[in-house]
Amino acid sequence: MTYVIAQPCVDVKDKACIDECPVDCIYEGPRMLYVQPDECVDCGACEPVCPVEAIFFEDDLPEQWSEFGPANIEIFETVGSPGGASGADPLPADHPFVAAQPAAHV
Ligand code: F3S
Ligand code: F3S
Repeated sequence: MTYVIAQPCVDVKDKACIDECPVDCIYEGPRMLYVQPDECVDCGACEPVCPVEAIFFEDDLPEQWSEFGPANIEIFETVGSPGGASGADPLPADHPFVAAQPAAHV
């Protein structure tokens, strides 16, 4: 199991979650951040600090954002498990599903 970041993060990227994660497993892409599912230890520390409530336990992901579950997994199929976001390069591209999201009105 893992935690999943969903649509409210797109084009917001507050990044408060990064500071809370004890295993440094939240990785930045161009339009949102992603939890590495093999590195996440399900501590849940990230969930309450996100100001836009974008983070959910996998089983609690709202139905309208269900596609963010597989997107958070598939985005790591090419980079694998880097073993820590702070020492890794940002993800070069978003998941195609995320890249296709309409621009947020900010
Ligand atoms: Fe995104 Fe919320 Fe983290 S907006 S970067 S999931 S604090
Ligand atoms: Fe980190 Fe959140 Fe998982 S703080 S360990 S990504 S539940």
